[in-house]
Amino acid sequence: MPTISRKGLLMPESPIRKLVPYAEQATKDGKTIYYLNIGQPDIKTPEVALNAVKENDIEILSYSRSEGSDTYRKKLAAYYNKFDINVSQEDIIVTTGASEGLLFLFSSIMDPGDEVIISEPFYANYIAFSTSSGVNVVPAICSIDDNFALPSIETFEKLITPKTKAILICNPGNPTGYLYSKEEIEKLAKLAIKHDLFLVADEVYREFVYDGNTHYSIMQVDGLEEHAVVIDSVSKRYSMCGARVGCLVSKNKTVLKTVLKFAQARLSPPTYAQIASEAALDTPQSYFDDVIEEYVGRRNTLISELQKIDGVKVAKPKGAFYCIVELPIKNSDHFAQWLLEKFDINGETVMVAPAGGFYSTPGLGLNQVRIAYVLNKESLIKAVHILKEALKVYKD
Ligand SMILES: Cc1ncc(COP(=O)(O)O)c(C=O)c1O
Repeated sequence: MPTISRKGLLMPESPIRKLVPYAEQATKDGKTIYYLNIGQPDIKTPEVALNAVKENDIEILSYSRSEGSDTYRKKLAAYYNKFDINVSQEDIIVTTGASEGLLFLFSSIMDPGDEVIISEPFYANYIAFSTSSGVNVVPAICSIDDNFALPSIETFEKLITPKTKAILICNPGNPTGYLYSKEEIEKLAKLAIKHDLFLVADEVYREFVYDGNTHYSIMQVDGLEEHAVVIDSVSKRYSMCGARVGCLVSKNKTVLKTVLKFAQARLSPPTYAQIASEAALDTPQSYFDDVIEEYVGRRNTLISELQKIDGVKVAKPKGAFYCIVELPIKNSDHFAQWLLEKFDINGETVMVAPAGGFYSTPGLGLNQVRIAYVLNKESLIKAVHILKEALKVYKD
């Protein structure tokens, strides 16, 4: 039989999706599942975005430009300008989700064998994008005991080798909810300049920032223009995960020119979805105010319910809608599967994401799970109650 590639063998399974067959079986068995495992918000997509697709009279659904439609990129630039990010449409390439932006960027700035330093735990697909590009991930390990703050700059600097090409952060973070301070961003920027590295920030959760904090983007740092690349998306901002629209933003013309070649090879981002994404930029601020209020309420409910369980440790997130929870167990893969297969209270159980997949360091995260607070408060209270009762009877 013909063999598949080494790269194909190395590609990791999604730590979130690998439990899906067990969830499907649990559903077939009549169980109700509280899905705490995925980042699919239950928040409604803004009407302006949906209406732009419903009400338009396109007769030919043609390709757009490879870098994305001019009108969308122009309006996107105006959106960034509001956040004190000084870019124009020439600095933006529209991609098929942040996922494609990351893939194109990795292939554009790194060769096989190069290294990217990523603060860990991180969004699990960063490993998949690195594997696709033949790039090695070097983790900068963050601890739940520090609320997942950035390790010291000295620790970061020790990780830099002649193979290092980039530092990647997610701000605010999935899976930790950590929000980087202006000081932390500035320290990373200095390091990137000193060692001539790219500083890449995945800012898909930019709006989801709580407790009066403000988001500080790497694109706001003076002097970082040639080093900074932002990856962005409409998926979470407007609850438009299925639109598959994201973008890559940079002032570095060589990066943009290179990414564009990858973008040309896949012809164009989706046309209807760009129309929806362009219209979504007219979403009123009141939409975000309501969404933020809802997430803050959910986060507070979740954290206070979790803190009532003996042996549970949780880092309070300052942004995004996830948190990492340490449980009094040895193997969260086994625990998550057991919850679906063997446990329920009156026919109800929960699905959590085992956190091992958010670490590249073997052995880390095995007693942790990621919880996404994408359910309403009542459901969160019920779900945490189920977790609490499950922990009383679970045996590793
Ligand atoms: C941190 C982070 N980056 C990127 C993505 C992928 O975004 P997209 O749907 O735009 O591909 C996600 C999706 O959950 C994410 O959490």
